[in-house]
Amino acid sequence: MANDLQIFALFGNPVGHSLSPLMHHAALARMGIAGMYVPLCVRDLPAAAMGIRGMGIRGVSVTVPFKEAVIDQLDEIDDDAGRIGAVNTITNDDGVLRGTNTDWLGITAVLREALDIRGKRFAILGAGGTARAALFAVLAEGGKPFIVNRTIERARRLADTWRCPFCGLEDIGRVQADCLINTTSVGMAPRDGESLVPADVVGRFPWVMDVVYTPLKTRLLQEAELAGSVPLSGLGMFVAQGAEQLRQWTGREAPREYMREVVHARLAAGEAQIRA
Ligand code: ATR
Repeated sequence: MANDLQIFALFGNPVGHSLSPLMHHAALARMGIAGMYVPLCVRDLPAAAMGIRGMGIRGVSVTVPFKEAVIDQLDEIDDDAGRIGAVNTITNDDGVLRGTNTDWLGITAVLREALDIRGKRFAILGAGGTARAALFAVLAEGGKPFIVNRTIERARRLADTWRCPFCGLEDIGRVQADCLINTTSVGMAPRDGESLVPADVVGRFPWVMDVVYTPLKTRLLQEAELAGSVPLSGLGMFVAQGAEQLRQWTGREAPREYMREVVHARLAAGEAQIRA
């Protein structure tokens, strides 16, 4: 017998500050789905994955630090997630756990809305799982990626695999690109107020995207705007990846605009409190 309530969960460690529960709850209510979305601080990943089957949890969002390790716990992963090497979404189909990656779809949604990706050059800052999602998104749409990373060896490895140029962070001033995408966590607490891109360099990129969404306007985006570039906030990616998760779990379109409003209101209220 199925649960009367559809149960969804977030697996991460820590999960206390995540806005996914707020966003998914609001969306489920708006969609008229009797469901719960529970943040779970995972200590034992294999046991937690068994729990998905054991408790009939319909869908799970996976976040730091499990996006790569979770792959070994699943029955199937799709080709996109396999190439990216990271899963952020699990769907439980009658005990069969399927993994996908909606981060790259979130990045694609934001970029598509802002510009015509085909033929454009993208400087991707970072070389972790989020950078691989950004690389995949750019290549899937016919864009040209360029990797910029603090640790040059990591950049080189990624560049070899994805066949694209790369450089160290110290050379960012020489990079020519239409759009810069920060995939690192610099700009988010405890490194809020910091940016990896010097203020006199950021204006070289007509579009600047940050995957960080707390704060809503990172120092990178503030300086980009001041320099005349178009800032693309991480909130758009967060909402789009979550909406795609809901679509995969429920088979229905999620209310993206409403989800965005709910998360934006919470973030804006938090920032007002900090300033008060
Ligand atoms: P994720 O999977 O979320 O992308 P990750 O695998 O930890 O996270 O990757 C984080 C990326 O941010 C890395 O490329 C890291 O650079 P290094 O490869 O040199 O470690 C980058 N990063 C994190 N903090 C940074 C900092 N303070 N300065 C420069 N780069 C940083």
